[in-house]
Amino acid sequence: MSSVVLKSGTIVTSTDQYVADIVCEDGIIRAIGKDLAVPLGATVLDCSGQYVFPGGIDGHTHMELPFMGTVSADDFYTGTAAALAGGTTTIIDFIIPGRNQSLLEARDLTMANAKKSCCDYGLHMSVTWFGDQVRREMAEVYHKDGIQSFKIFTAYRGSIGVDDIELVGVLDAAHELGALVTSHCEHGDAIVALQQRLLAQGKTEPKYHAHSRPSYLEGEATGRVIALARAAGAARNGHDSKAADAQALYIVHLTCKESMDAVYRATAEGQKVWVETCPQYLLLDDSVYDKPDFEGAAYVMSPPIRPKGHQDYLWNALSAGLIHHVATDHCPFRQADQKTMGLGNFTKIPNGAAGVENRMALLYTYGVAAGRISLQQFVNVTSTQAAKIFGLYPRKGCIAVGADADLLVYDPTGTSTISAKTHHHNVDRNIFEGFELKGRVSHTIAQGKVQWQDGQLRVERGSGRYLRRT
Ligand code: URP
Ligand code: ZN
Ligand code: ZN
Repeated sequence: MSSVVLKSGTIVTSTDQYVADIVCEDGIIRAIGKDLAVPLGATVLDCSGQYVFPGGIDGHTHMELPFMGTVSADDFYTGTAAALAGGTTTIIDFIIPGRNQSLLEARDLTMANAKKSCCDYGLHMSVTWFGDQVRREMAEVYHKDGIQSFKIFTAYRGSIGVDDIELVGVLDAAHELGALVTSHCEHGDAIVALQQRLLAQGKTEPKYHAHSRPSYLEGEATGRVIALARAAGAARNGHDSKAADAQALYIVHLTCKESMDAVYRATAEGQKVWVETCPQYLLLDDSVYDKPDFEGAAYVMSPPIRPKGHQDYLWNALSAGLIHHVATDHCPFRQADQKTMGLGNFTKIPNGAAGVENRMALLYTYGVAAGRISLQQFVNVTSTQAAKIFGLYPRKGCIAVGADADLLVYDPTGTSTISAKTHHHNVDRNIFEGFELKGRVSHTIAQGKVQWQDGQLRVERGSGRYLRRT
């Protein structure tokens, strides 16, 4: 029996804040209260003057993802170790079958890879094509594997992107199961046309990645996916079916005003649309693409980093409670030998960057400490709401007796600076290089064990558990 007692921390949940002790035994929170007795042999952590948050949940990561001719550089072991170093105790990663590949075959491969994880993990199923087989396999993974979220890409045409007819099929199949559809929204065909034009004009550098994917093409796709969810509902319920009758949607990595406006309109009509954004879209602007010597490639991701103005719009939505989760879209590629695949052709630069270790401290620093969001909102958008949306609550996402003992102890004093020289991501660049942080993750407790303490990782490869979701 292993026990950890957190003494006198300021416990913060999505609704509360109070000073108390927490007793964790065998991976579960057993007691919360003042001056609790310490079980024999327990590890005691003095948390006075520090915050105790629910362990972070990152609802959007891509560990060892085969993508654009290479594989993302963090595997499930290194990526989840980095997550724990940053206070994230649960990730939800993606199974992404190739076009025409069986969902079950892709599931088996990803589940085998994910066994290396050292924190708990769930999996979303991406649906990259549609037909009777896919409908059957969606039902199988939903019932058998507890996968309750299906992801579609409107971008990446010709590889993992779906067309609108396929998208309606996925919406319908998910609705039948009572599952959630999540969507990467960009106008795939228009992007291909713009890429071809730019390349034909000799515009090959990383910054043209952003030119080929303007914010209005994300806004168009966000509005279209929302409309198609409504249309799918109308096809089921009759043509006068209301927006409020449409199934709920979850928009991943939303970056811009146009997409937020599409969500506002749908929300005003009564349609339920969950929104996720990521720290890079809150904190960076497109001047990063002007860096010399191909350094802009480190920031090539989809959607791209947006021009100045979009970031404040997103912060305002976040503080108003209209963005529900801040994930990372962690998908790292080394600058030295992976990003360089796109030297001379920006369309060949592997899309993605690292972030899983930095999310909690960045959001604390630039959200809470900067006065943009409260401590309770911080907990809500980094943990609680993801647990609720993705079927993990109340096992995860809260500090309550009976919940998993996944906790983050945050010391709000002192400062540090993010750098690729010191991070635990398995890559040679950090897109937040030089960002100052207020405070630090002093301890991460996951499954009731202290896995990160004062700069030291104590993780065990393969100790993460697969999470069936409901
Ligand atoms: O650039 C990105 N975002 N890479 C990962 C795949 C995706 O679209 O989420
Ligand atoms: Zn995406
Ligand atoms: Zn992604």
